[in-house]
Amino acid sequence: MKDQIQIYIVGSGYVGLVAAACFAEIGHRVVCVDNDEAKVQMLREGGVPIHEEYLPELLNRHRANRVEFTSDLKSAARAAQAIFIAVGTPQSETGSADLSYVDAVASEIARSIGDYKVIVEKSTVPVYTNEWIRKVVERNGVPQDLFDVASNPEFLREGTAVVDFLHPDRIVLGAQTERAAAVLRAIYEPLTSGAYYRVDHAVPGPRTSDDPPPVLLTTTKAAEIIKHASNAFLATKISFINVVANICEEVGADVQDVARGMGLDSRIGPKFLRAGIGYGGSCFPKDVAAFRHVAEQMNVDFGLLEEVEKINAEQKRRFFQKVRSALWTFRGKKIAALGLAFKGGTDDIRESPALEIVEMMLREGALVRAYDPAAAARASEMIPAGPQMRYMDDPYEAARDADAVVILNDWQEFAELDLPRLKKTMHFPIIVDGRNLYAPQVPLELGFTYISIGRPAAHGLTVSVERAGSDLRRPAMQARAFVPPRIAPLVGCETQTGTLARSEGA
Ligand code: UDX
Repeated sequence: MKDQIQIYIVGSGYVGLVAAACFAEIGHRVVCVDNDEAKVQMLREGGVPIHEEYLPELLNRHRANRVEFTSDLKSAARAAQAIFIAVGTPQSETGSADLSYVDAVASEIARSIGDYKVIVEKSTVPVYTNEWIRKVVERNGVPQDLFDVASNPEFLREGTAVVDFLHPDRIVLGAQTERAAAVLRAIYEPLTSGAYYRVDHAVPGPRTSDDPPPVLLTTTKAAEIIKHASNAFLATKISFINVVANICEEVGADVQDVARGMGLDSRIGPKFLRAGIGYGGSCFPKDVAAFRHVAEQMNVDFGLLEEVEKINAEQKRRFFQKVRSALWTFRGKKIAALGLAFKGGTDDIRESPALEIVEMMLREGALVRAYDPAAAARASEMIPAGPQMRYMDDPYEAARDADAVVILNDWQEFAELDLPRLKKTMHFPIIVDGRNLYAPQVPLELGFTYISIGRPAAHGLTVSVERAGSDLRRPAMQARAFVPPRIAPLVGCETQTGTLARSEGA
């Protein structure tokens, strides 16, 4: 791999830390700065504050030589050729992104500029942030020829962040000058030339030296919009399939067949069509709100995103109602809640639909025994353990004497439960699966009542869902009446009911 570049990253959260480890992995020297002294100390001593596959290995590999941690922004920034801003952009009260951290960091960086630097936005920010950063740096007395501001959005998913970084679908570089573009190109050259994938210790993933990631060079504004629009589009896809799932439930069709049928159309694609309990996490809810706010500011009507948010909120309520109707009431019922993080593969509980549903069950008097392979410690800071809420060390302990097991996120472990063993420990064999981890006939044949999302309820069990303006509530144990198809099936169109438990990785 060619030139080593001195990179400086401000912020050691998910994006900053993963970027630091991965830039070091592809040969650069990285200084990662954070104003949280305790975190810096922990990282120096070999600790890793987040649960992320390959991250501990990469940090161990490079800590001694290529990655350093500091809380001293100014002195470290002096030697850097590129300074990446990867600080938080939380949601403000109006829904817009709160850019006060970016603002503060830009002023501080300005004070350390002595020779040419590229300042790169890595945080998800609204369009025009780039220009604001440029203004802030200029106001602090830095002449225009000593810096450029560029945008290099990151598309990593928690849980697979390292692989996403090193094997990206695309690398988006938003730059206004050729010299800024040249620095960014040089940084990613080990990936774009394919050289990294030939290295012995390379982290495995879909990219190879024959199929390196493409680079898209754009203006900074386009790069900023690409990030917001991508996240908003993915959230829209999820809300869309969730509504389709609700229609499937009403007519007795299987949403997974529908999603597969849609996804085989190459214009739609199979990913992000898993129906569930709604999206969560630190990005989608915040970015949909922020993008909607950007549209508002530009006087553009983007009511579609409001609907996306509304559907997402409704999906959680609807699932909760499903659990309730399987149990009749919550008071005094023992529920095994499998999953606390916003999805499997992470310990992140920010905007977790799983946690929200646990809270709803607790409010109605349920006794919750929760298990998550990684997120229990964080969850217990939000919902402390007590007589009503207990955190368990394994799913079978959580299910002991339970009136129902409720699956709330998609850890692989939950898709591979020893169902006969689970059944033996439970009081009633009811599984309410918010992530469609099982082919319904599997638990059904073992004698479970199995309720999932957008698929006919197994065991003749129908789930009641309250409808606005209607008092219609079907009791849970009532058999679903046969619903005749309203449209004649297409002749010669074969359908196949799959037995796949999971349609796609997280
Ligand atoms: C997301 C984007 O995918 C990533 O590109 C961006 O950089 C950050 O935000 P992340 O928040 O880690 O990543 O999670 P992701 O895997 O995208 O899932 C987001 C939420 O959507 C989760 O709650 C997940 O369970 C849910 N989801 C995802 C579905 O309900 N159905 C799907 O088909 C996919």
